[in-house]
Amino acid sequence: MLRSTFTPLLHTIPSKPKPPNLFSHSISISLSQSPPTVRQNASPTATTTTTNPLHNLSPTSAYIHLPFCRKRCHYCDFPIVALGSSSTQTNDINNDPRISNYIHLLCREIKATNSQFNHNPPLKTVFFGGGTPSLLLPKLVSLVLETLNLKFGLCLDAEISMEMDPGTFDVVKMKELMGLGVNRVSLGVQAFQDELLKACGRAHGVDEVHEAIGVVGICGVENWSMDLISSLPRQTPQMWEESLLLTINARPKHVSVYDLQVERGTKFGILEVESRAS
Ligand SMILES: C[S@@+](CC[C@H](N)C(=O)[O-])C[C@H]1O[C@@H](n2cnc3c(N)ncnc32)[C@H](O)[C@@H]1O
Repeated sequence: MLRSTFTPLLHTIPSKPKPPNLFSHSISISLSQSPPTVRQNASPTATTTTTNPLHNLSPTSAYIHLPFCRKRCHYCDFPIVALGSSSTQTNDINNDPRISNYIHLLCREIKATNSQFNHNPPLKTVFFGGGTPSLLLPKLVSLVLETLNLKFGLCLDAEISMEMDPGTFDVVKMKELMGLGVNRVSLGVQAFQDELLKACGRAHGVDEVHEAIGVVGICGVENWSMDLISSLPRQTPQMWEESLLLTINARPKHVSVYDLQVERGTKFGILEVESRAS
């Protein structure tokens, strides 16, 4: 991981984040890294010392996978459903029953999750990842948060993050999400050049990128990050420099740079195989 001397910090991540397994649960609850407190150890229900101490730790974070996108990007091998619409039809997508059905099942799964712990401290972090979580209507986000709160509890100052794609939200939606507690945004920009965005099959252009950065600023989201992809086909060093400069000008708190990974079965993967064969 490289760290630049500029502000904001630039994290170069050579490999993309690992997609959640298609068949794994759409909610994952992670354990606190800290050992049980003295009070927990003193509890009459505490397990004996022969038990793995990790088993005594309570969940502190929830990752919620929301696998819906307008379309599949040409590099993407994540477990997602492409709802099949352009950015101009985002309202239709918001109301797609596949999303609401999924959310209702997800909430049932949260309720059915056996936390196995006697003392559940409230969750400290919730991360809505995707997919494109910002496609969701705020009322569905609210339902998930309420369900998590009822099941596990949520700290009053919990960090609630959401991956958001340009072209899927405006000031009204951002403010509604903030009203529900979303206080950290991860913006999937990838590139600042229309030809690159088009070449990698993004559902948005550069205008929507600038609009999204503007919305985040107007709404006063302080804790936000931006994703970029390097080594895209047709990306020149000048384009890369331009993307980095525009990123720095936008002043996100954090930047994640992923070097393109051409995955088997994706459009880029198929093109690569074809070009090798010819
Ligand atoms: C979970 S994905 C975010 C999905 C989000 N809806 C989006 O596309 O903006 C997190 C980041 O992984 C990166 N990524 C995904 N697939 C990649 C690949 N094959 N090579 C490099 N980076 C990738 C992108 O930068 C993306 O923003």
